[in-house]
Amino acid sequence: MALASSTYDGSSGMPTHVAIIMDGNGRWAKARGLPRIEGHRKGVEAVRTATKTCMDLGVEYLTIYAFSAENWKRPLREVDDLMGLLRLYIRRELNELRRNGVQLRFIGDRSRLSNDIMKLLQEAETETAVNRRLIFTVAVNYGGRQEILEAVQGIARDAKDGALEPSDITEAVFERYLQSVDVPDPDLLIRTSGEQRLSNFLLWQSAYTELAFTSTLWPDFTRQCLEDAISDYQKRERRYGGTG
Ligand code: FPP
Repeated sequence: MALASSTYDGSSGMPTHVAIIMDGNGRWAKARGLPRIEGHRKGVEAVRTATKTCMDLGVEYLTIYAFSAENWKRPLREVDDLMGLLRLYIRRELNELRRNGVQLRFIGDRSRLSNDIMKLLQEAETETAVNRRLIFTVAVNYGGRQEILEAVQGIARDAKDGALEPSDITEAVFERYLQSVDVPDPDLLIRTSGEQRLSNFLLWQSAYTELAFTSTLWPDFTRQCLEDAISDYQKRERRYGGTG
């Protein structure tokens, strides 16, 4: 169902940026006696639904956690399957995403990805760079601590070269060294499957993000689930440390 939900208030307070930790693919598959890859495959369908829903609702930025810097610890077969799905997703969806005005971006350390995937990510970014309807960021081999460390290294290099004084390093300057440069902090971060942690996702950026945890497994996360999470977000008061 689209915007007709009884709880959904599409008129005000739409989050500008929604971030999602897509969790529970493995459990979804296990509950059906299927291999884990089937859960991830169904998870890709839920990604499609989420991007469409964001476009329809007017959410301007969507960021999803597709592969964490720690996911290399999974069995090689599953890592290969996940990389294969990413490759397939970009190859199959790129044209439609481009036509629909979606700008694709990728954050994370690309150096460990295979050459063909690195090239695909670059192509997808270049081909969609002018789009503005939805800025869709996919985190691949991403870690929040790693991102912060890289920013610190960049700042230290510039300070060493004399381009920066320690007193110049404000929050705004620091953010220019993050990979999420030009993307506003997430207003709403959703994690599916009942786990209640950030797992190294957008650590700097989520300082004042509203968190939403749902027991729904990612492959079951429908348009209605996203609308409900947004509706709940719209009832919250954001105080940013003030008194409201
Ligand atoms: C968490 O479920 C999910 C992931 C680690 C990967 C998410 C990836 C996809 C949805 C597919 C690839 C994405 C794109 C954009 C092509 P889990 O495996 O940890 O589930 P579990 O906790 O139930 O085992």
